[in-house]
Amino acid sequence: MADDLNKEATILGRPAKDIEKYGEKGTAYLGKVVISSGEQPVLGRKVLVDLAKPHLILICGKRGGGKSYSMAVLIEEFARLDPVVKSRVAVIVIDMVGIFWSLKFPDKLHESELADWDLKASASPVNVFVPQGKLSFYKEKGIPVDGPFTIKASELSGIEWMALFQLTWKDAEGILITRVIEQLQEKLGTYYGLDEVIAAVRKDEESEPLTRQALINRLHVAKEWGLIEKSGTKIRDISRPGSINIIDVSAYRQAIGMEGTKDIIVALIGKKLFEERMLFRKEEEAKIIRGEQRTSDMPIVWMMIDEAHMFMPKDEDNIALRILLEWIRVGRQPGLSLVLATQRPERLHPDAISQCDIFISHRMTAQDDIKAVSLLRPSYLHSDFDKLYQEMPRTKGYAIVLDDNTEKLWLIKVRPRFSWDAGVTASAFLE
Ligand SMILES: Nc1ncnc2c1ncn2[C@@H]1O[C@H](COP(=O)(O)OP(=O)(O)OP(=O)(O)O)[C@@H](O)[C@H]1O
Ligand SMILES: [Mg+2]
Repeated sequence: MADDLNKEATILGRPAKDIEKYGEKGTAYLGKVVISSGEQPVLGRKVLVDLAKPHLILICGKRGGGKSYSMAVLIEEFARLDPVVKSRVAVIVIDMVGIFWSLKFPDKLHESELADWDLKASASPVNVFVPQGKLSFYKEKGIPVDGPFTIKASELSGIEWMALFQLTWKDAEGILITRVIEQLQEKLGTYYGLDEVIAAVRKDEESEPLTRQALINRLHVAKEWGLIEKSGTKIRDISRPGSINIIDVSAYRQAIGMEGTKDIIVALIGKKLFEERMLFRKEEEAKIIRGEQRTSDMPIVWMMIDEAHMFMPKDEDNIALRILLEWIRVGRQPGLSLVLATQRPERLHPDAISQCDIFISHRMTAQDDIKAVSLLRPSYLHSDFDKLYQEMPRTKGYAIVLDDNTEKLWLIKVRPRFSWDAGVTASAFLE
């Protein structure tokens, strides 16, 4: 194994014929293979990940195991892709904790560790979008943001409004909002905002006054959030070729009365990207038939979702679930990739596990979770996952990676980040 150091890099997710044709172009440098045991093991060849073709990457690990860190490493790699490849790719990151904005700053704290890897601290150009209603908060705190993220009111169907407020058909408010939205769409077409919705609810004659008041209260809360506007963020603005776009949904996590917000955001972005890519894929195909280059205005898209079990739960309904399953099932053809991270694979929809073609797992200890990922254990994996996790060094940054292409499993150390890590564990100490 000692000569592993000199071996060529392993490229996860890239078939041999593509390696022959493209070499290491369009890949992400994720880390290095571990070639000895112990807490400070010797590291060998590089491990790269193919970013040029569609994949479903699943990142697992227990709390604090390094999932978000590894996701940030992948984002940094998108930022430094070869310009030609980069211009064909757009990245959208659903940031559940509000930690990825710090990719904009170089990591000056860990320069010596980076030097050990022959790397240097550097910033990664990303665009950060936050809810309109939180824009001034971010600015006051000196957190650099690039703009608000808003949803166009008329793009929400009655069912999506219900999901936003977590209402069902059994709720009188659910019935009321769907009726009002249908009427508005008929009367006003595509140009109305929350004020118009509130006015229409107020005028409704078929509902009880209490129901109307309850719904109006919810709509007022929604107004404060500044998420739903007459005209919203255009999907093209968050999927420009070569751009990396962080949608910070952390503010919506605990928003009372707005529990469904993060789900709606993912569902709408996912739906629109799917539709657009389907159309553009046809344009690209037509160009290839005519013997022209495979170009179109709409790049292939990677969506990265942290805490993915919240959007793709195993046994609950979620407005984003159906759309993400569609990405997983047919995303390959239109060029839609997903990177899903979760600390609870046991709670994740089983298709997200069984369909993943690149598996990255940090330490896991909960038996239920280990059992869930064991589902994906292919015939080429002989040893128990359980044993692998036990043998993994306890220090941060180690992971098992499984690649369907080479049918191999590796223990790796994820490379240090170039950019500042805003996800470090909170502490009561001042220094
Ligand atoms: N490859 C690594 N190299 C060095 N430090 C790391 C590495 N991975 C993780 N860490 C450290 O561990 C901390 C926790 O990692 P991270 O936030 O990625 O965990 P997580 O799995 O996303 O946890 P949670 O489930 O709570 O979201 C990081 O802030 C970082 O300090
Ligand atoms: Mg995390």
